Amino acid sequence: MQVYNSVASYRAWRASLSADSTVGVVPTMGALHAGHLSLARAAATANTHVVVTIFLNPAQFAPTEDLASYPKTMDQDLAALEALNASLPPSASGQVTTVFAPTVAEMYPAGIPLVRNEQVGTFIEVVPLSAALEGGTRPHFFRGVATVCTKLFNITRPHNVYFGQKDVQQTVILKRLLRDLHFDITMTVVPTEREADGLAMSSRNVFLSGERRKAAPVLYKALRAAEDVYNGGEGRASVILEAARQVLEREGAGMMKLDYVSLNESELLREVDTVERGKGVILSAAMWVLPTVEGEGTVRLIDNLILE
Ligand code: PAF
Repeated sequence: MQVYNSVASYRAWRASLSADSTVGVVPTMGALHAGHLSLARAAATANTHVVVTIFLNPAQFAPTEDLASYPKTMDQDLAALEALNASLPPSASGQVTTVFAPTVAEMYPAGIPLVRNEQVGTFIEVVPLSAALEGGTRPHFFRGVATVCTKLFNITRPHNVYFGQKDVQQTVILKRLLRDLHFDITMTVVPTEREADGLAMSSRNVFLSGERRKAAPVLYKALRAAEDVYNGGEGRASVILEAARQVLEREGAGMMKLDYVSLNESELLREVDTVERGKGVILSAAMWVLPTVEGEGTVRLIDNLILE
């Protein structure tokens, strides 16, 4: 497995590939967990070269957010990818041959201050999708994601890219970006990996321990309660969402603060009043896990299910 830290060195490698090889890219910010590895595994079933990008992207963090404390585990990440390669079945098309882990200066030559009106250069925005859901609380977020992914797609030149269902809004926005900017790239969305108690895997879960870790699966439980109501024949969004809210109020009181629970169509992410069956409506939620002892930070969790 080769690690490239500069655009020029990656490009030299990419240019050396034969025309019949395929490249599958898995963009990450590092701190790899089983969810990331399932993306790389999916990529290895369909590509001769899997490229994992590891870049903690400042542009998707507000000045008040956790960029400085975000987990950085490069050595473990590389070891996890080597172990994944060793575990791939002989039927796999390829393996993780390459890690692209550029510096901030490579990706943002003009610098990247977190304060938006101090930023200089080219930024990509997918409107109005980036203002919905996560964008309500994190207005900078999808501009940062869309910008860095455009750069990464342009540099890595993938045939296929792999993203996790856990970040459903990110997948909808980036699919739109691929289409609107005429990237000849196919996206595969890989199901969410969960802990045994249902908590969706996330790099930020390392910040949860003790009582907070025990309580965190309430988010998934709330979504499942809403899904049960839908599966029972209910179509009104207000009733379905209320089922989720009740679980969070009952079981999360004091330790959790709900940001939103919402039902949205999957094209422009508009809220729906009634869930139409067969349309794949997104049921998603975000909450903060509040500190229980001094020194702990607030941890934001998101999760979703698709109502078919
Ligand atoms: O999902 C993530 O880890 C990030 O948002 C991504 C896609 C790697 C862009 O920085």
